[in-house]
Amino acid sequence: MKSFFKSSIPVAFLLLVAIQSPAKVKIVMSGNSIAKKDSTNESLKLISQAKRLSSFLPGQIWNDTDGVPVNAHGGGILYHEGSYYWYGEHKVAGTLGNTAQVGVHVYSSKDLYNWNDEGIALKVSDDPKSDIAKGCVLERPKVIYNQKTNKFVMWFHLELKDQGYNAALSGVAVSDYPAGPFTFIRSFRPNTGCWPVNVQKFHKRPVSDTIKSAYCGGKDCLPAHPDTLNLLGRDFKKGQMARDMNLFVDDDGKAYHIYSSEENSTLHISQLSDDYLSFSGKYGRFFSNRYMEGAAMFKTTKGKYYLIASDCTGWDPNAARSAVAESIWGPWKELGNPAIGKDSASTFHSQSTYILSVSGKKDSFIFMGDRWDPNNAIDGRYVWLPFEFKGGKPYFKWADEWKL
Ligand code: GAL
Repeated sequence: MKSFFKSSIPVAFLLLVAIQSPAKVKIVMSGNSIAKKDSTNESLKLISQAKRLSSFLPGQIWNDTDGVPVNAHGGGILYHEGSYYWYGEHKVAGTLGNTAQVGVHVYSSKDLYNWNDEGIALKVSDDPKSDIAKGCVLERPKVIYNQKTNKFVMWFHLELKDQGYNAALSGVAVSDYPAGPFTFIRSFRPNTGCWPVNVQKFHKRPVSDTIKSAYCGGKDCLPAHPDTLNLLGRDFKKGQMARDMNLFVDDDGKAYHIYSSEENSTLHISQLSDDYLSFSGKYGRFFSNRYMEGAAMFKTTKGKYYLIASDCTGWDPNAARSAVAESIWGPWKELGNPAIGKDSASTFHSQSTYILSVSGKKDSFIFMGDRWDPNNAIDGRYVWLPFEFKGGKPYFKWADEWKL
């Protein structure tokens, strides 16, 4: 980080301008950029003209085109009509930033290096009764475009204010424009009253009343295998739990919601309805008892589906996982940690959030990870690294700096 600032400050072009009228001003972290002040009493403002970027610098502070660090954590990318849109959790400083105080931030870019601030795509609500009331947990937002309805559809993991991680809900919002504003539609649990395509006979048997209605959600919380407890059966009527999540749109326009379910122990993949606003009722459960989090899917031109995910260790990084399948409905075959080299056991101190398919470049994929900082959430960093393939297995190595 230090070397980045040493090299960037001399080239930053500083403008000393006299402005009387209020300007678009942002709060920046001290040390990350040049402070901008907004006061009618002050006529002098120091504005930094951000340096144009021409490479990726994983783990370093990533300034937007205004010179302010990008604030889009647990994010995902939509490519639409020649532009990339990066949606992510807007975090504030301190531990308060682990809850949603602002909403979903969106940036746009043509080259993936330089990002324009497009503002807040989805705002949390000031109404304390709203599902997305300020102070809720709103994580891992993803946006896809529906060609039939011409709408941009956002999904996110939602936990209701002051209820910890108990609700395990999916939230949906919609907009006519990629940068929003998005309108919140509803939150719900997936697949109420539906069995998965790979349901087993024992799931349909009555669930013992010794099974708790909720466990703590971590890896060591369950007293037995999720199938022994039959968490799927437990949640059949109420709807399945959904926490860490992602979206994937296949070549045929069908969209899928991929999420950690059954107390995070098992990954579910659900086909969405044609308008992408709800579930179709068709879903499968995979990697039972593997506690996959941060799951992200991509597909190569060879027609193979890949999943990248993490283990379940809260904000602490762990070794990533990868898996391949010929069909979304499986069978999925695990391929091991796709990160290789020094620090691969912590996925280079990051957790997967999305796999970006680079437009116009055949089978070019970028691992997008978060380097969380739960003590000062706004200072979480982004780790983007390029995938390579060997023998049909995707992998990525660390690079201090790289280009497309
Ligand atoms: C992680 C998860 C994050 C967040 C965090 C809270 O395991 O990937 O999205 O939910 O736990 O502790």
